[in-house]
Amino acid sequence: MDETSPLVSPLQDSIDYNYCQSEASGPRTPGSVVRVSAGSPGRSRERQPLLDRDRGNSPRDPHRNEFPDDPEFREIVRKAEQAIEEEIFPERICQGSSGSYFVKDSQGKVIGVFKPKTEEPYGQLNPKWTKWLQKLCCPCCFGRDCLVLNQGYLSEAGASLVDQKLELNIVPRTKVVYLASDTFNYNAIDRVKSRGKRLALEKVPKVGQRFHRIGLPPKVGSFQLFVEDYKDADYWLRRFEAEPLPENTNRQLQLQFERLVVLDYIIRNTDRGNDNWLLKYDCSMDTEGKRDTDWVVVKEPIIRLAAIDNGLAFPIKHPDSWRAYPFYWVWLSQAKVPFSQEIRDLVLPKLADPNFIKDLEEDLYELFKKDPGFDRGQFHKQIAVMRGQILNLSQALKESKTPLHLVQMPPVIVETARAPQRANKEPDCSSLVGPD
Ligand SMILES: Nc1ncnc2c1ncn2[C@@H]1O[C@H](COP(=O)(O)OP(=O)(O)OP(=O)(O)O)[C@@H](O)[C@H]1O
Ligand SMILES: [Mg+2]
Repeated sequence: MDETSPLVSPLQDSIDYNYCQSEASGPRTPGSVVRVSAGSPGRSRERQPLLDRDRGNSPRDPHRNEFPDDPEFREIVRKAEQAIEEEIFPERICQGSSGSYFVKDSQGKVIGVFKPKTEEPYGQLNPKWTKWLQKLCCPCCFGRDCLVLNQGYLSEAGASLVDQKLELNIVPRTKVVYLASDTFNYNAIDRVKSRGKRLALEKVPKVGQRFHRIGLPPKVGSFQLFVEDYKDADYWLRRFEAEPLPENTNRQLQLQFERLVVLDYIIRNTDRGNDNWLLKYDCSMDTEGKRDTDWVVVKEPIIRLAAIDNGLAFPIKHPDSWRAYPFYWVWLSQAKVPFSQEIRDLVLPKLADPNFIKDLEEDLYELFKKDPGFDRGQFHKQIAVMRGQILNLSQALKESKTPLHLVQMPPVIVETARAPQRANKEPDCSSLVGPD
C-alpha cells in the first residue's frame, strides 16, 4: 500500500505500544485522545493575546489538538483550523442521519470528515429532523440498546485504533479532535453568548479581555482523514458484476474484503451496510510515450478499500435477534470464500498474543475514558463482547472457515474482570446467522 495513504499510520512500525509508560512521557497510543491539562490559569496565560488563546494555541488549552505520535495527522488538523479561521467552514454532509461535516483546507479542498459528539444520531443537537421525529413518536426504538449511547465519535476513533494495531490499514486514520465552526449546530444560548462576547470585546476591550474564550465553543468529535477518488462499495460491486475484474485484481479485492470482515467482526460493527465502505478502483492505462509508438502499457489495476462510518460499534452486548444489525457484506459472494493464508498470517499471531490483546484493551480504555459519560462497568461489557468476537474469529481463521461461517458461529462473551477467562456461550445465535 502507498505509504502516504491516509489509511496507513506513518509510525506504525515505530510506535511503542507498551502501556506502562510514565505519564510524563505523554500518551503514545495511536488514536488516543491527547489533551493537555488545563491547569489553573496562571499569569503567563493572562498575558497571552486573547485571540491566540481562542485559537487553541495555548499549550494549556484543554481543547488543543496535539498528536505527538502522528505529526502528519496534526498537520492536517492544523490546516482545518487555519481554514476555519479564514472562514472556509466545514460543510454539512447532506445525506446521513446526523451532523457530519466535510472539513476543508484553505484552498477549499476536503481533507477530513468531522462528526461532533453533540450532533450524533442520538445527540441533543442532531440537526436532522428524522431522528427527532423518531424520538418523539417511537421512544422505545430510539437508539440501539446494545450500544453506549452518544459515544459514536469514540467508536470511530476506536475502530481506527483497532485497524492500526492489527495493521489492517483499511480505516482512514481517525482521532478525537476539537473544532468550532459557525456551520455547526449550536444552541441559541451558545450563539447569543458568543455574539455578546464579541460585541463586548469590540466596544469595551478591557471587559472583553476577561473572557476565557470568545467565539463559539469547540465541539469534541471524531475527525477522519478524507480519502480521495473512492466510491460506495455498492456502486463498484454492481459494476464488477457486469464487468468482472481481472483475476489478480479480484484477488486483491478479496484480501481487502477479508480485512473488513476482521475489523467489523472484532468491533461488532452494527452499521455495516455496503454504503459504509468505499472502494477505489484505478484501472488507468499508462499512455506515456504513446506518441512514439502505438503501444499502450496496461498497468495492473489497483483496488483499495476504505472502511468509513464506524460510529455504531463496540456494543455492550450482542444485538437481540429482533434487531440483529447484520453485517451486510455477508450476502456478497466474497463472504463464501475461505479466509486466505495472508489474513491468517497477518492477524492470528497478534490475536494469539495475550500481551497484544491487553495492550489493545488498555489503548481502548485510554481512549474511551475521555468521555464525560464514561462508565467502567459498560466498558468491561464492551471488552467482554470484543474478547468473545476475537475468540470466534481466531477459531474461524485457524479452521480456514469463510466469513459466512464466521457470522453463523454462536456469539460469545468473555468476561475477565471478575471471572478471568470465563467464556460464556450465549444460547441465542440467531442475531448473527447469515443467509444460506
Ligand atoms: N473518510 C472519508 N473519505 C471520503 N469520503 C467519506 C469519508 N467519510 C465519509 N465520506 C463520504 O460521506 C458520506 C457520509 O459519510 P458517513 O456515512 O460516515 O456519514 P453519516 O452522517 O454517518 O451518514 P449515515 O448516517 O448515512 O451513515 C459517505 O457515504 C461517503 O461518501
Ligand atoms: Mg454512512
